[in-house]
Amino acid sequence: RDHLISAAHLSRDDIEAVLDHAAAIDADPGIVRGRHAGRVLALCFFEPSTRTKMSFETAMKRLGGDTIDMGAVESSSVKKGESLADTVRVIEGYADALVLRHPSEGSAKLASEFVDVPLVNAGDGAGQHPSQTLLDLYTIRENAGLDDITVGIMGDLKYGRTVHSLAHALTEFDVRQHFISPESLRLPRNVRYDLHETGAEVREHTDLDEVLPELDVLYVTRIQRERFPEEREYREVAGEYRIDNEVLADASEDLTVMHPLPRVDEIAPEVDETARAKYFEQAHNGVPVRMALLDGLLGGDT
Ligand code: CP
Repeated sequence: RDHLISAAHLSRDDIEAVLDHAAAIDADPGIVRGRHAGRVLALCFFEPSTRTKMSFETAMKRLGGDTIDMGAVESSSVKKGESLADTVRVIEGYADALVLRHPSEGSAKLASEFVDVPLVNAGDGAGQHPSQTLLDLYTIRENAGLDDITVGIMGDLKYGRTVHSLAHALTEFDVRQHFISPESLRLPRNVRYDLHETGAEVREHTDLDEVLPELDVLYVTRIQRERFPEEREYREVAGEYRIDNEVLADASEDLTVMHPLPRVDEIAPEVDETARAKYFEQAHNGVPVRMALLDGLLGGDT
């Protein structure tokens, strides 16, 4: 059974198959209209979400299928102490595929061992968020191409699961990666080790100015307040690495600015008005990309 648990499991061929299919759907949604009529996608979100949950829901409905929603933890039987394993074992009986978001790293891998329908990891704590990576790559490919480019990834690299997934996937392409963060929010050791093992060109910085003029893409992330063990540690780094048009003065005119969203104050609203801002386009790309992904997992073309 195919699951999507980690971007580290995706080859360049896998990624390109999804992105090509998403581009074809984007150009003509009619090619998949009604293809998954009668099938059901279960949305199991143990943590808040706007984009991931709603774009998966839209994607499944545009494929002709339907969705069911476990609802908030407070209104489900998780509140009564039901285990994750029991929860997904029950829900797989109601659905043809599951999308799972959970606060514990490793939860999607664990859950996938209890189900026979495809399961997509929609974020496991500070671990991975691979379907976000597919829409990130789609956005990069549309705006900067995916070969011979320089990407800066900035902000909370320690707890940012979108970063961990994207960094892995970019090693499949000819991409130079620069990581910009406070010392305390560097990439986790295991992610740095994995990137090093691939032989990818990867550099770390504490100062955006060191690398900004070289960048084709700047991927900004939110400081993940909810993952800090102590509020004091969050306050020490909150507000660092905020970008506005003045900070971006030395950047290429063609710089693509991305953010997985939600943002708090990492990107000043004035940047939204510039041609560099691609983060809303990025969020909207979640629909065709997740349509392509679901079509593949449910036995369509991909
Ligand atoms: N990018 C992302 O995962 O957003 P949500 O938390 O709103 O799903």
